[in-house]
Amino acid sequence: MTNAVREYLSFDLGTSESRVLYRTKDNGNEEVRVAKILTLAGRPTDYQALDALKELGAVKKDARLEDAVLVGDEVNEYRDLLTVTRPLERGQIAGYEQSTSDEFQRNLADVRKIVNKLARKVSAKPSESLVGAISAPVVAASESKKELRDLLKTYAVTGNAMIVSQAYTAPWGAIEAGKVSMKDARHSLWDDIGAGSHDAGYFDGTRPMDGLTASSPLAGDSVDHALAKQLAKRYGKEFPNLWVRDVKEKYGLVEQNGLGPQIVALNIHGSSKSEDITDLLIESGRPQVTVVSDVVLKVLGNVNPEYQKETMGKVYLVGRGSRVAEKLALI
Ligand SMILES: Nc1ncnc2c1ncn2[C@@H]1O[C@H](COP(=O)(O)OP(=O)(O)OP(=O)(O)O)[C@@H](O)[C@H]1O
Ligand SMILES: [Mg+2]
Repeated sequence: MTNAVREYLSFDLGTSESRVLYRTKDNGNEEVRVAKILTLAGRPTDYQALDALKELGAVKKDARLEDAVLVGDEVNEYRDLLTVTRPLERGQIAGYEQSTSDEFQRNLADVRKIVNKLARKVSAKPSESLVGAISAPVVAASESKKELRDLLKTYAVTGNAMIVSQAYTAPWGAIEAGKVSMKDARHSLWDDIGAGSHDAGYFDGTRPMDGLTASSPLAGDSVDHALAKQLAKRYGKEFPNLWVRDVKEKYGLVEQNGLGPQIVALNIHGSSKSEDITDLLIESGRPQVTVVSDVVLKVLGNVNPEYQKETMGKVYLVGRGSRVAEKLALI
């Protein structure tokens, strides 16, 4: 037996939230550390904002306007002083269609900062014994594989680096957490409903399989956009994005399900009014049911016919976007 230390560092890059898990095994002793931050980046709006951020200790004293950038939860904390961007969008690093564009390069640099910040939070350092993994939405995991792998090289110095699509981290995560047994997870189908994408995949207990994944960029963010648009149309005013998302998370529905009307306090032209917005919540949430069945059927169609029936009875909806399903017995 050798005394080799083994280290595992895995990042889950999510459109709204990114997480890290660091695990070391040293001669049988295991240590696990986890952390998460918002997948946000922000740059000072002007010189006054930059000065204020310096005073607040949020950026270095010698930071310049051209390169001062914050990532993670601090962006939310200081959002009134920043131009806020989301480096991941619709299941991809934003701007990936043109990988040489400034937009893509800026977002990639911001993703790197997010990865580094997460690694610092769990005190992970570059190491020869480290195996690194990034799980990303299906599209990013295939289209931006090289870029994502490069991000890992900082830590996994000997090239032990994997890029895994989120369609596969869901079942492995659920098995590791003891939420589902390997036996139940075999021949199953998973749809990870996030903010920027649905990532669906068939799982046979081994590795990702060609042709057995599907994704759609119409996930939680698209519900927020639809709800914001309908609220604006009905009440003649724009509501803040974060408020709209909170309303969806609290009251979201995909069908009339006996919960009764969803009454929400709206601030309209300076006064607060209680309004029944059940129909708008259903109209914006309902398309998610179609997206679930689209991605699930797309994958199911390519599953070995021998296992299709079993797989149909083992469809798991995961990701925070699936929480709306707790309020109904439809899907
Ligand atoms: N109770 C809820 N009802 C409906 N939607 C919810 C609820 N709670 C969170 N969400 C939505 O879930 C989405 C975030 O899910 P999750 O954290 O799994 O995504 P992510 O991993 O950051 O993104 P992605 O996997 O798409 O890159 C957001 O759109 C959020 O508004
Ligand atoms: Mg996710």
